[in-house]
Amino acid sequence: TLLGIDLGTTGVKAALFAVEDGRVLADAFIDYPLFHPQPGWAEQRPSDWWQATVTAIRACLDAASKQGIQPSEVKGLGLSGQMHGVVLLDAAQQVLRPCIIWADQRSEAQSRWITEKIGAEQLIAYVSNPALTGFSAPKLLWIRDNEPEIFARARKLLLPKDYIRYLLTGVQAMEISDAAGTCLLDVKRGAWSQEVLQALDINPELLPPVVPADAASGTITAEVASLTGLPVGTPVAGGGADNACGAVGNGVVKPGLALVSIGTSGIVLAYASSPQVDRSGPVPRVHTFNHAVRDAWYLMGVTQGAGLSLRWVRDNIGLPERALERWTGVDAYDHLTKEAESVPPGSEGLIFLPYLQGERTPHLDAYARGGWLGLTASHDRRHLVRAVLEGVAFSLKDCFAIIREQGLQLDQMRATGGGAKSALWRQIIADVLGTELVLTNATEGPAFGAALLAGVAGGVYTSVVEACEQTVRVVERTEPDVEHAEAYAQAYETYRALYPALKPIMR
Ligand code: XUL
Repeated sequence: TLLGIDLGTTGVKAALFAVEDGRVLADAFIDYPLFHPQPGWAEQRPSDWWQATVTAIRACLDAASKQGIQPSEVKGLGLSGQMHGVVLLDAAQQVLRPCIIWADQRSEAQSRWITEKIGAEQLIAYVSNPALTGFSAPKLLWIRDNEPEIFARARKLLLPKDYIRYLLTGVQAMEISDAAGTCLLDVKRGAWSQEVLQALDINPELLPPVVPADAASGTITAEVASLTGLPVGTPVAGGGADNACGAVGNGVVKPGLALVSIGTSGIVLAYASSPQVDRSGPVPRVHTFNHAVRDAWYLMGVTQGAGLSLRWVRDNIGLPERALERWTGVDAYDHLTKEAESVPPGSEGLIFLPYLQGERTPHLDAYARGGWLGLTASHDRRHLVRAVLEGVAFSLKDCFAIIREQGLQLDQMRATGGGAKSALWRQIIADVLGTELVLTNATEGPAFGAALLAGVAGGVYTSVVEACEQTVRVVERTEPDVEHAEAYAQAYETYRALYPALKPIMR
């Protein structure tokens, strides 16, 4: 069996899979808090991640052993995680401050400074991407500018899942698909950009070695073995960024395949055989990152507040359903999306902008803000919910449109993430994008991709592509409904007009 760990934004998942066909043998999910100390800021405590990870591994192994599967059967562990977050360690390997995570938007000034210092074109030549508040380097420089005493004590920069790797194995390393999101990696070569480090005056010693996704980076230590029940010496694969692992778990490992994911963020990702960069506008609006597949890349558009938007609705407008959930066991999301089904496509003129955490693709604007527009007395709560599902789909369409302009082969879109479990949301996305969406058996999302990478690292599969061929299957298809096309086209047009019109007051 293979163990996949996905360190997400809402919590960590541990899942155990069968080598032969990828079926889920056991799983566990443990959540942790997300702090917003100021509007636009987002932080988490690495100690919360660690405790949750240990608990999730234990719970998963316990569930497995009830079915007669023993920890000794685990051939390898793979790590997947939320990208870009900055974890700083001091000389005693202690965490120096809470992690500034991907969603945090405080580093606009630092992003601008990096761009000016290196030059926009030169930066793209070095790291294949622009400097964005979402990426790690601006976050790191925010700490240098605003908390110099903390920065002075920093000896190592790790990304979220790579910090967990360190605690599991004692090895400090950054896996390549995740390192791609730092804005410090030469994505074409898969090595740190010495030019960028020098220009930004970042000590190269702060960065750990870059390691591949599909090879063992270390093994489980004796201490962790006693904490988790995993055998000492279990290999821990490099693993991958959550989006790269989501792609692997859904078989998006060859040309022609693309992924749409609705987690806290939403993404549209397409496999790329070369590190091509979006030159359709003055600044690349989709990212070019290394894939967890060797010598492969992907282009990705990111919408910051996808599942996050629906979660906000659930937690703030769906309070009765949230309370009922405890008594009836009916998931509050299911209840809310069920209600939204009775509203026609286009939400009778109500439009939602999902920019609750600023926006990346297509606006690249840390100060973009969300909201509903077009509210009339005849709308009710069902419309609010449906407009959120549609607004996120429109934002994904913005990503999809830019990706399509890049001339990549796009034969099939696969859907994943918590949001894709909703049949209504899948239908809305298929309708809005005007393309078929397929679901695979990767019900556990990135944890499955991470486990497949562990399988390659452990010699169970010969390559990532082979691992996918053996285990990933299409299980369901959602076709776009042509009757909805007109209503969505109109609503999308209004959606597109809103941000430019409102931008002047979004600050
Ligand atoms: C991608 C990004 C998010 C996180 C979510 O660039 O910031 O999708 O990876 O976990």
